[in-house]
Amino acid sequence: MKYARIKGTNDIYGEEMSYWYMIEESTRKIAKLFGYSEIRTPIIEPTELFVRSVGEETDIVQKEMYTFEDKGGRSITLRPEGTAPVVRAFIENSFINKGFPQRYFYIGPMFRYERPQKGRQRQFHQVGFELFGSESSLADAEVIYLAVKLLKEIGLTKFKVVINSIGCEKCRPQYREALKEYYAKHLDEVCDDCKRRYNTNILRLLDCKVDVEIADKAPRSIDYLCDECKEHYNNLKKYLKMLDVDFEEDHKLVRGLDYYNRTVFEIRHDLLGAQSAIAGGGRYDRLIEMMGGKSVSALGFAMGMERLIIAMKAENVKVPPALVNHVYIAHVGDVIEAALNIAEDLRRNNITVVFDVMERGLRAQLKHADRIGALLAIIVGENELSEDFVVVKDMESGEDSKVDINFVVDFVLDKLKEIM
Ligand code: HAM
Repeated sequence: MKYARIKGTNDIYGEEMSYWYMIEESTRKIAKLFGYSEIRTPIIEPTELFVRSVGEETDIVQKEMYTFEDKGGRSITLRPEGTAPVVRAFIENSFINKGFPQRYFYIGPMFRYERPQKGRQRQFHQVGFELFGSESSLADAEVIYLAVKLLKEIGLTKFKVVINSIGCEKCRPQYREALKEYYAKHLDEVCDDCKRRYNTNILRLLDCKVDVEIADKAPRSIDYLCDECKEHYNNLKKYLKMLDVDFEEDHKLVRGLDYYNRTVFEIRHDLLGAQSAIAGGGRYDRLIEMMGGKSVSALGFAMGMERLIIAMKAENVKVPPALVNHVYIAHVGDVIEAALNIAEDLRRNNITVVFDVMERGLRAQLKHADRIGALLAIIVGENELSEDFVVVKDMESGEDSKVDINFVVDFVLDKLKEIM
């Protein structure tokens, strides 16, 4: 092989496409039902955007960004996530003038230089939702409820919602202190990563995969929440119950990006193994101001599309095929104009028509019709045409019907209704 795709990336084609369509169509449907409009931001952004928002000490910024210098000497990064670009667009395009709240969604590729494994890639895809302008727990509940609706829409059932509150700038310093005090006593027992993070990002010690028992016994953020954060969290739980959203609380959930405050959540799939998070999100009330905008509350989440597909397969979700070739038009002899007209009539009626462009013999044409799974083949031949009819072949049963040239569309519509 001369050229191979880059490690951790994938070609997506064929039957696999049906899963992608299903997720994309479900996303648009749910977005529409909840009043979220689409936003498409560039895949390349200034590196500084992610360093500032995601956080200098996070894995993403420390180890995982695809960063390069462009020909103008600027440092550019392939977006590792979608929130920072949407926030940049929000500020840059003065969305603030549109009033609040504002709701956006996006679908697209993200890039992280991680060690590839099942459910973890270097180019992966997210669908994401962001809500700007509301401080109320109603917004948190809406966003989590929406995520659950979307998962159900794509056919998933075996997942659980996990929530936590990590407080605000008022109460988090006390919590951080409590963690420092606790971990100081265990510093010689924890792994090297934890030792480093002790000084740079103490909260992340809680989701260490090595020192689980130490983290289990660590102080819990919810015990340090200020009154406002406590009320916010309690209201969220109240609203989730009203919405019939089952959830668990996980006091160790802190998330790997620095911009969060108050609500953080993840949705984990039961059949996914190590990379079980199919969605993650939370509040980022300080981020817009930190990035140079006004003070605007915001929150959102993103789902990993590859992980959704693994979960769909594990749950045996049936998806409609991405492409159904209803009709193949075979033509033999001097009948091209008539054959083209039939194709046009059918397509005008929303019937998928694959037209022979190889000018091969009838046998080869029908073989191709079979290979692409055409449901019907229309054979346009000189003799038949001179008597104003064509042959419609049911590709599954092999049954041929003589059909008057003026009634081809009606016949095909009826026949498709019968066999589909
Ligand atoms: P995140 O937790 O980093 O959050 O990513 C969200 C989801 O993307 C994960 O739960 C996972 O399903 C998927 N994902 C992440 N990395 C990979 C990877 N290397 N391979 C495959 N899938 C992956 C964010 O990105 C935030 N921007 C979410 C958010 C939106 N928070 C507020 N608004």
